[in-house]
Amino acid sequence: MPDNRALPIGVFDSGLGGLTVARELMLALPDESLVYLGDTARCPYGPRDRDEVREFVLQIGSWLTQRPVKLIVIACNTATAAGISLAQRVFDIPVIGVVEPGARAAVKATVNRGVGVIATVGTINSGAYSTAVRSLDAGVTVYSAATPRFVDVVEAGLRMDDSPLEDWISQTADVFIRPSFYQIARDYLNPLKRAGIDTLVLGCTHFPLLSAAIQQVVGPNVRIISSAEETARDVAETLSIRGQLALPGRGHRTFYTTGDPIEFERLGGRILGSATGVVGKVELTLLESLIDDSMRAQKDAFESEEDACS
Ligand code: DGL
Repeated sequence: MPDNRALPIGVFDSGLGGLTVARELMLALPDESLVYLGDTARCPYGPRDRDEVREFVLQIGSWLTQRPVKLIVIACNTATAAGISLAQRVFDIPVIGVVEPGARAAVKATVNRGVGVIATVGTINSGAYSTAVRSLDAGVTVYSAATPRFVDVVEAGLRMDDSPLEDWISQTADVFIRPSFYQIARDYLNPLKRAGIDTLVLGCTHFPLLSAAIQQVVGPNVRIISSAEETARDVAETLSIRGQLALPGRGHRTFYTTGDPIEFERLGGRILGSATGVVGKVELTLLESLIDDSMRAQKDAFESEEDACS
């Protein structure tokens, strides 16, 4: 195996949410360098068609492998649900997503074997969490709810410090939230509470920013799981087993966006808890140009196999 210990880890998300995963990676693996791409120009992924999200996974995976990177983290549940198997097939470096680590943490945490999952429409419709949980413990029942408005709440809340604050009075989260959030949250979460869950997976990388507020709504008896920490552990273990951990010394972190770099730098720093440094811009036309015929053929073959198995 080539000595690629000095190469960065590639991380991507539909936008800013994946920075919650980058933050954990930076804490768990301070020596590692990271290259992060937030596809803000095409965010949200949640309501998009699975095929389209798969295409984005291939484009960004190709961009990262060309840097090059030694491992890819898909720090987006929607992209993981749609594209991790395909990405693992196409790229010749390890690809780690956030669904399996979140499912594993939930299975470890639940006592009554009732687990709730909240996520985007794309993630919930994929059934990825139910499949992942069942493969770990077939006795656990998963209750799922798509909570797309939570993504909007986080996106709006992050942009809040530029706007008048009068009616944005709550700060029981890492972002500003309106009091009306609690009614939206109760509507989404009460059915899960009534089902008797004792564990709730935040199946979207935006949601850890609402964690404290969600905890208030579900009450103290429900354990909240964010897959970020478990994902960071997976990355550390994978690199360690492969002898690819970086040598001691602080890693470099570089951030890119397909959207507005100035905005990404301003908002990203708030999520990371430290400055991003100058954020680079990646044009969508560049990403689109990275899918060649051979990759398209691999995608077609993968999908034919998938259809044959279903
Ligand atoms: N970060 C995405 C996820 O974890 C949610 C945001 C989006 O819809 O793009 O699923």
